[in-house]
Amino acid sequence: MAAVIKRDLVEKLVGRAASDGDGVKLKRVFGGTGAERFDPFLMLDEFGSDQAADYVGGFPSHPHRGFETVTYMLEGRMLHEDHLGNRGLLEPGGVQWMTAGRGIIHSEMPQQDAGLMRGFQLWVNLPAAEKMQPASYRDLPAGDITECTLPGGGLARLIAGDLGISGELCTGPIGGKTTDVLYADLQLGKDETCELPVASHLNAMLYGYEGELRIEGREEALITAGQLGRLGEGNSIALRAGPEGARVLLIAGKPLREPIVQYGPFVMNSREEIEQALRDFRSGQLAS
Ligand code: CO
Repeated sequence: MAAVIKRDLVEKLVGRAASDGDGVKLKRVFGGTGAERFDPFLMLDEFGSDQAADYVGGFPSHPHRGFETVTYMLEGRMLHEDHLGNRGLLEPGGVQWMTAGRGIIHSEMPQQDAGLMRGFQLWVNLPAAEKMQPASYRDLPAGDITECTLPGGGLARLIAGDLGISGELCTGPIGGKTTDVLYADLQLGKDETCELPVASHLNAMLYGYEGELRIEGREEALITAGQLGRLGEGNSIALRAGPEGARVLLIAGKPLREPIVQYGPFVMNSREEIEQALRDFRSGQLAS
């Protein structure tokens, strides 16, 4: 058996206030310039508000090409509709995994005008060879997310990939991606500790969204709600929740190590491919 090497925190980031879609207020944890170090991930947004004015505008019709979007709802309901007539309702605890591929034009609109709307959107890059595949979706209601009990009694909700928990393999509903994505929502109780394998070929990070969490690598580091910890090399993570417990996203994936050229909702490998995407969008060919 290979030696266990705990991953250390190598960088801590705080999400910054941003606005996207039709005035939706959100927290951009990372994205855009400098996102290469999170390869294969391009962006992570957290949205959360009980003020309707912060979200009712939603995300009206807009295009994507060249990557995947993963929307994970904690609270609230969002309706997704695309140019092909696909409709899907995202409800609390559910996930929509959209592979934009060569192109999708869609809207994502809140189905409420009061109450709490809360969740995350993660952008996962596609390798060059898969960027122009036809668009596809997986709509995963809350009951389709794999739930596993952690050794300390907490809960892992596994959206993608495999997680070895106390020697047993827990498998999420999404798998087989070239990017080997591991995406889990870990809910730890007060002072709970947890050690999990995270394969050494994956880039890994933790995003705290409730409570606080210590990353117990060779050195100890603290992550509080709203902070992202990018992790260094190793094959396991060791965590200890604070006195209020912690909720944290564990996100890991295999880096593609390809050039990233992004123009808004188009992410390709070269300037020429971006220009082609713009031409295709203007001529109505993007998603046909
Ligand atoms: Co979108």
